[in-house]
Amino acid sequence: MFVINLFTLLLSKKLMISQSKQDRVTIKVLEQMKSDGEKISMLTAYDYSFAKIIDNAGVDIILVGDSASNVMAGHETTLPITLDQMIYHASSVVRAVKRALIVVDLPFGTYQADSKVALKSAIRIMKESGAHAVKLEGGKLVEDSIERILKAGIPVMGHLGLTPQSIYKFGTYSVRAKEEKEAKILIDDALLIEKSGCFSLVLEKIPNILSKKVSNKLKIPIIGIGAGSSLDGQVLVSHDMLGMNKDFSPRFLRRYLDLDSLITNAVKKYSKDIKNGDFPNKEEQY
Ligand code: KIV
Repeated sequence: MFVINLFTLLLSKKLMISQSKQDRVTIKVLEQMKSDGEKISMLTAYDYSFAKIIDNAGVDIILVGDSASNVMAGHETTLPITLDQMIYHASSVVRAVKRALIVVDLPFGTYQADSKVALKSAIRIMKESGAHAVKLEGGKLVEDSIERILKAGIPVMGHLGLTPQSIYKFGTYSVRAKEEKEAKILIDDALLIEKSGCFSLVLEKIPNILSKKVSNKLKIPIIGIGAGSSLDGQVLVSHDMLGMNKDFSPRFLRRYLDLDSLITNAVKKYSKDIKNGDFPNKEEQY
């Protein structure tokens, strides 16, 4: 009897787990993951095909990052990408994704100057792309924008530390908040972000010891990139972790694939096959 009950319990647990793999990830799911101690995986995507693969592989959050400006458009910084371009990328991702929560970056210049402009930008993203949340960089300086967007019922993810939209203020992409003064401002901004009602926070390229401090003070899930292992989840730019950019090798980046070499070899072989007259062969024509 005990064995049968145990078997039934295990089976229902297994069913529950496989069911939860299908279920849409919502903000509530992320809260639950944090309280269960389950780490959150997040990865960027900017187009339909990549987003489909990434979603099917079970990533919890897909970020349509303004890093599209770098990896998709080839700009040196994230500053040039426009709201229309972000909406185009986000719409393509939304069409592909069935499970992950989709967060879209508000691009530079669409939320800093005025909270009404910020709300309009966030509404355009939500309405025109069908995404689930927006992300923006900064704390106190953009407090009004955060509050106005949240009041409209749009979930907001914060982003502190190395905020790439401020690269010309920082002057370098090196680790932020190593000094006490900047670390204190970051902690205050993190507390403000949580108090405002943001559902999550990204911490980028800060010392692990500071991440731990912020993590001890906050209840919302914190996702790190180059911010150590003490946070609730991790995010990377998909093109970087798949090895599509050999020139970018920061210490925090783990490469899971050498897609650059794989694609290069495939394209070389394709080109060679055409020149040799091997492609197309008899079976490959009508
Ligand atoms: O734009 C982006 O890809 C990001 C991540 C690096 C967090 O903001």
